[in-house]
Amino acid sequence: MSSSLEGSTLFDLAAYLKHQKSVVEKRLEQVLSTYPQDSRVISAVKYSLMSGGKRIRPILCIAASEAVAVEEDFFEDVLTCASALEMIHTYSLIHDDLPAMDNDGLRRGKPTCHVAFDDATAILAGDALLTMAFETLSSHLVQGGNEPGRWLEIINLISRASGVRGMVEGQMLDIFSEGVSLTPEALENMHRLKTGAIIEASVCSGAILARGRVKHIKSLKHFARHIGLAFQVIDDILNVEGDPKLLGKATGTDSQRNKNTYPSLLGLNESVTFAEKLVGTALQALSDFDKKADPLRAIARYIIDRKK
Ligand code: IPE
Ligand code: IPE
Ligand code: MG
Ligand code: MG
Repeated sequence: MSSSLEGSTLFDLAAYLKHQKSVVEKRLEQVLSTYPQDSRVISAVKYSLMSGGKRIRPILCIAASEAVAVEEDFFEDVLTCASALEMIHTYSLIHDDLPAMDNDGLRRGKPTCHVAFDDATAILAGDALLTMAFETLSSHLVQGGNEPGRWLEIINLISRASGVRGMVEGQMLDIFSEGVSLTPEALENMHRLKTGAIIEASVCSGAILARGRVKHIKSLKHFARHIGLAFQVIDDILNVEGDPKLLGKATGTDSQRNKNTYPSLLGLNESVTFAEKLVGTALQALSDFDKKADPLRAIARYIIDRKK
């Protein structure tokens, strides 16, 4: 990667990711333990939710909260929100893999949910995860938690990013543009919606819950908009030249299904250059931030260097 994107070696991203991933997974386990364990839907939810995954959206939520934090009393709230974001993301993957969508057989190194169970169970596991996310987010309000306005704001933000103003519409465009060549503008819009929207909501919700200043939240939104698009550009690239063993999912599937992707539009090299440029712009948006934003900076670089 270009030297302008190389960061300080002082921050140990691998250790940070490992730690945050285990914190998030512990919370997810805790939430799951409150549901009936003899439910077939819960077995399918557990199968997909607790099967690895980078947990990058919840970790971005946590890292954004740390970047703006003045006090340290917000971590429990941020973790609640972070776990809900991973539930929504996992639901989107379960449905994305269904025969009626991308028809994929491998996810996170294991048979996809509909292969391990069946289509109906996978649809319901997705539905369960989406509703579980909003149950998790709203439980704070129901239990009379503080700052209801802030919670309503993030519930609204996450709803918008997940639904037809974001991911759902992006997925619709993705499926209905198979075999049709999109313009660069239409491809960018599709990628921003299907993947960028939830990444942006992850960063912004963390910053809002940590009571970040409006000015900082605005910069973080700009940061997230760029890494969100870069994330999907790299996903497209990995589908061409990634290692399926590392990725835990099949490669070559986008071209088999005539998907619109950055490599199909620009070629591989230009797609890498485009992703690097996006991350460069994202990093500039953090120029006013101090060391507390180092995790976010390192995650931005990781997004283009990742192999899985
Ligand atoms: C894959 O997301 C789907 C996209 C939106 C590109 P991730 O690459 O974050 O998948 P996991 O969660 O690590 O499995
Ligand atoms: C995933 O897009 C986007 C969502 C699940 C919302 P892709 O279909 O490109 O992701 P992978 O490659 O299957 O993980
Ligand atoms: Mg898809
Ligand atoms: Mg897919």
